[in-house]
Amino acid sequence: MPETDGRDTADSTYTMGYTQEFLQLLERRSAQSSAAHLLPHLRPGMRLLDFGCGPGTISVGLAEAVQPGVLHGMDMEASQIEIARAAALAGGHGNMELRTGDVTDMPFEDGFFDVAHCNAVLMHVPDTPAVLAEVRRVLKPGGLLACRELIKSSCFFEPGVDGLNAGWDTFGDLLAVNGGHPQMGRQLKRVFQEAGFTDIEVGAEFESFVAAEDVAFFHRFALEWFCSEETVEAAVHLGVADRQQFDGYRRSLDRWKEEPGAAAAIGWGYGLARKP
Ligand SMILES: C[S@@+](CC[C@H](N)C(=O)[O-])C[C@H]1O[C@@H](n2cnc3c(N)ncnc32)[C@H](O)[C@@H]1O
Repeated sequence: MPETDGRDTADSTYTMGYTQEFLQLLERRSAQSSAAHLLPHLRPGMRLLDFGCGPGTISVGLAEAVQPGVLHGMDMEASQIEIARAAALAGGHGNMELRTGDVTDMPFEDGFFDVAHCNAVLMHVPDTPAVLAEVRRVLKPGGLLACRELIKSSCFFEPGVDGLNAGWDTFGDLLAVNGGHPQMGRQLKRVFQEAGFTDIEVGAEFESFVAAEDVAFFHRFALEWFCSEETVEAAVHLGVADRQQFDGYRRSLDRWKEEPGAAAAIGWGYGLARKP
């Protein structure tokens, strides 16, 4: 299956969905775990956009870093914005404004933000230039862009029992047929350049699952989300995999979890850049 290059305009379907099973992965995230590359650049009083903020687990930490400045969180899915609103309320973050909307057509005036951030969003939106043009529009001159995105080819299960790592390819193929970009995390320098950003810095890191409780979490997550009937049905329907492959992934996941050296990691690439 060919991988996309950040330019296609396929019809998009959001691969991950909004089930409780997927939400459990997002709930583990925080600004410290997922936006460490951005935090040193944030100052009190900044106006910050978190586009594709999802349930807001990263947004709350970003809001704390810029208070009394305002964090604006935006997501196309109302259920996620509701969860983010509840998190803002529970955490006493009075400087968070949350709304639904599409990242390719945002309801903000030109030059509104000091900083624009996203985590795991460019990898899902088919038209990368359209998103980055819109983000560039709403940033001030000199404003900072920070994105962190999947590097599918750097994700692994160790040991890769019974071809378990082929599951990452199946996942990447599913993302790609839905209009996404499984390797976006390593394409950030190019897509930022093409969108006219300057002062580009990029790096990469792992979200790792090594401690026994994290291995147990990732085993459960992979079974309950990736091997769920919903995902299997989508993959089979789109011709990405057949049911026998998923039966194999389930068996391999159970074997992997029992390995004394079991570990897994998601590869992420991050990039920082400025609007000229
Ligand atoms: C993998 S989640 C990441 C959420 C959050 N940034 C995090 O890392 O926890 C991707 C989010 O992007 C949102 N999204 C995808 N395409 C979008 C679009 N075109 N406009 C607005 N939000 C979008 C989805 O609704 C989803 O909540």
